[in-house]
Amino acid sequence: MSKKRRPIVAGNWKMNKTSGEALALAGEIARALGDFEPVDVVLCPPFTALHAVSRAIGGTRIALGAQNLHWEKAGAFTGEIAAAQLLDAGCAHVIIGHSERRQFFGETDETVSRRLGAALAAGLAPIVCVGETLDQRKNGRTEAVIREQVQKGLAGLDAEALGRLVIAYEPVWAIGTGMTATPDQAQDTHAFIRGLLKSMAGEAVAGAVRIQYGGSVKPANAKELFGRPDIDGGLIGGASLDAASFVAIVKAAV
Ligand code: PGA
Repeated sequence: MSKKRRPIVAGNWKMNKTSGEALALAGEIARALGDFEPVDVVLCPPFTALHAVSRAIGGTRIALGAQNLHWEKAGAFTGEIAAAQLLDAGCAHVIIGHSERRQFFGETDETVSRRLGAALAAGLAPIVCVGETLDQRKNGRTEAVIREQVQKGLAGLDAEALGRLVIAYEPVWAIGTGMTATPDQAQDTHAFIRGLLKSMAGEAVAGAVRIQYGGSVKPANAKELFGRPDIDGGLIGGASLDAASFVAIVKAAV
């Protein structure tokens, strides 16, 4: 559709690392990538390690992200975190609607939409996750599922807001399983998502939004995936917990 966008690679550490371990891992990554210019790099540790990682990457080009946020600004919401608290901890990004949240914690397209509104209003750059399960893919429903997630999750956003998103396409069957989508499978779905964005916000916005691939990305498969025309980097789980493999994946996005 258009020339390639600036790649963005994010590490989703999920429920791993104490703050001491996070400090060490982020420090290693910062030494290798702190002034690395060609790729936007984001680290998304658990909430308890945000401050430690923020310190470790201070003064580098690496950005901090959280793994979720609540849509309310403050109040009686035990266990939740608000946008202002993430900004205060140094976050610039936030992951929204990860499939693990959808599968295990009742996340829906409606709650994705609410969280997204709160993130955008606060000036956080959202990484919105979409993806089909294995059953859905086997039944030929991949596009229908993605269409619904994109249209409902991003409902009501204008072109300016849509232009500030990163979307992560993460086939659920590929997450943490070692089963990666083939570059062709991933490219087809990324192109489909870009087409949806075009119908929602026009060609210029659709051509500018970065779409990451996620699901068992490793140093060995990253280059081929990231080389496809509509794949603009990755959201990396397991392989982001090891500095050497994460650094190799980031470099594969150049
Ligand atoms: P994985 O996870 O790289 O371990 O498959 C990706 C993700 O869930 O973001």
